[in-house]
Amino acid sequence: MKVQLLDLAAQYRKIRKEVLREVKAVCDSQHYVLGKHVSALESEIAAYCGAKFAVGVASGTEALLLALMAAGVKAGDRVATTPFTFFATAGSIARLGAVPVFVDIDPETYNIDPVKFESLLKKRGKGVKAAIPVHLYGQCADMDPIMKAARKHGVTVIEDAAQSIGAEYRGKRAGSIGQMGCLSFYPTKNLGCFGDGGMVTTNDQKLAEKLRMLRVHGSRVRYYHDEVGLNSRLDEIQAAVLRVKLKYLGSWAEGRAGNAERFDRLFEKAAINGVISVPRIRDGNRSVYNQYVIRVRKRDKLRAHLAAMGIGSEIYYPLPLHMQKCFRGLGYGKGDFPVSEAAAKEVLALPIYPELTLAQQRAVVAGIAGFYDRGTGARLR
Ligand SMILES: Cc1ncc(COP(=O)(O)O)c(C=O)c1O
Repeated sequence: MKVQLLDLAAQYRKIRKEVLREVKAVCDSQHYVLGKHVSALESEIAAYCGAKFAVGVASGTEALLLALMAAGVKAGDRVATTPFTFFATAGSIARLGAVPVFVDIDPETYNIDPVKFESLLKKRGKGVKAAIPVHLYGQCADMDPIMKAARKHGVTVIEDAAQSIGAEYRGKRAGSIGQMGCLSFYPTKNLGCFGDGGMVTTNDQKLAEKLRMLRVHGSRVRYYHDEVGLNSRLDEIQAAVLRVKLKYLGSWAEGRAGNAERFDRLFEKAAINGVISVPRIRDGNRSVYNQYVIRVRKRDKLRAHLAAMGIGSEIYYPLPLHMQKCFRGLGYGKGDFPVSEAAAKEVLALPIYPELTLAQQRAVVAGIAGFYDRGTGARLR
């Protein structure tokens, strides 16, 4: 049985009529930039995330870039973040001429280690202007100690919630905890549009106003520019698509969580939970499972074995950011962040989308069990 890593067509089939009706209405209106759908979506997303304001922008990457700019991060400033994330997190820091300062991760959640974060701020508190904890795979970073340390050292916290819209940490939603939160609407995200899109959430009115100014070339009054911003707006068509999808987001997140529970049980039943580690969700956290990531030995061989069976999987991410060629100038090297480096060798994301069937999940688990059974020679119960 073939199982794709993500089957967007299955989702599209269910909402096609509704989405096409809304897209057609936007085309008929001929109003494509910053129209009623963008402002309505901003209110709806702010409410969904438990934040007061939300500002639609062109992508998750530019949400990060604009949030850093709104926080006053300038060339030469240091910004603390994790090396175990998608490139955009650190790329947006470097794009401003600021310096990413990496902090290793917790081995179970793959999110920034709050103890190491605090000790970095203790050592170099004054030099760190902002921090970007990432809520990886759909689970929030341990935000209470992060916020406490950041407050103590005057560090602005920007949550990278690109993978985690709707995720909860001790009753609060991703994007409502730090000074700002950044969302991505890239198609593979839990709330994905038909191209690129993003949003910044905040509880701070001044930051919201600044973000609105920065996304239109730093202009509050047309053709008068207070600052050098960029052109980074969410398209009206994308906002219309997202408003349709937002109605289903809660049930899709439940579907993902249900599938995750089912995987946990199936792996236990197949008695390979000694060979693989299933995702660990911390007490007080509610994951939205943008990814279901297992940890295994012989990962690359397992992946090839699954691919040969028609089962999709992916590695998020194979090379930690401190080891990327473009960041060589930062002076980091192999061995600097051992927890991230070990994770990069062992993580494997499996299909988890809400439309996944029990039969498909069984096929994935059987594929993995078959590989280790064959590989170890040990019979599985
Ligand atoms: C953790 C993380 N940060 C930032 C981004 C950037 O978002 P986008 O692709 O919308 O620019 C992504 C998504 O790709 C992501 O996964």
